[in-house]
Amino acid sequence: MEQLKSLRIILIQKRLNVYKGIIVNNILILVSVLVLASCSGGRNSTGYSLINDMVDSLAYEAFSENPHFDDGQSMQAPPANTIARGWMPDKRGSDGLLVVTSNPFPMNDYKWKRAEIFYNKTCSACHGVDGQSTGLVVTVGNFPTPPKFLSRRFKYSKRDDYTSGNIYNVITDGIGNMPSHAQQLYPEDRWAISEYVRERLMIKGK
Ligand code: HEC
Repeated sequence: MEQLKSLRIILIQKRLNVYKGIIVNNILILVSVLVLASCSGGRNSTGYSLINDMVDSLAYEAFSENPHFDDGQSMQAPPANTIARGWMPDKRGSDGLLVVTSNPFPMNDYKWKRAEIFYNKTCSACHGVDGQSTGLVVTVGNFPTPPKFLSRRFKYSKRDDYTSGNIYNVITDGIGNMPSHAQQLYPEDRWAISEYVRERLMIKGK
């Protein structure tokens, strides 16, 4: 009896070994088929992908056709008079010139620091860090020398009643040989720089 039992166990073990072999072989074949399949289509093909949600999004692509709009396009022009966030247009008179106003954005320590950094980045190349027209563009580059901020030779107004609104106009529209800087700077930063120039570079040493 005992002998029969152990014989049966040996047989079962042998059969299990055979199954194991078959399973391992099949897994190997499956893996190599998958590996080879993922290489198909050349280097420009992404091969098969199982989960396509990232590729085929439910939303319409910007340039795709769209049955929901009359012109059949997904991308629509913004409605008339739409204003991009942060780009509130400046008030202009019927002559097209900016209406001089005062700074609508309150100043704080952060804004003063930011204004200084932006002045040094954007304006100092000509006007100099000290506002005394010592920038390289002027001293080395032979560019027309701007009026020193401590002088009284301004076009817009005398230094004493030169407002930050005047400076805002100069930065936004440019003046004479100075180009407009409206594209480089947000209105809020233009105002902050105007305050900075007025308070720290024009008044100093008055
Ligand atoms: C490319 C050189 C250049 C840069 C950059 C520049 N300016 Fe000027 N700026 C000038 C010149 C030149 C003038 C004189 C313009 C004229 O009268 O023809 C001037 C004039 C001015 C005036 C006096 C305007 C008046 O009433 O006569 C102010 C204020 C001024 N700039 C502020 C700034 C500020 C603020 C910046 C930075 C946002 C700046 N500028 C950037 C060249 C420059």
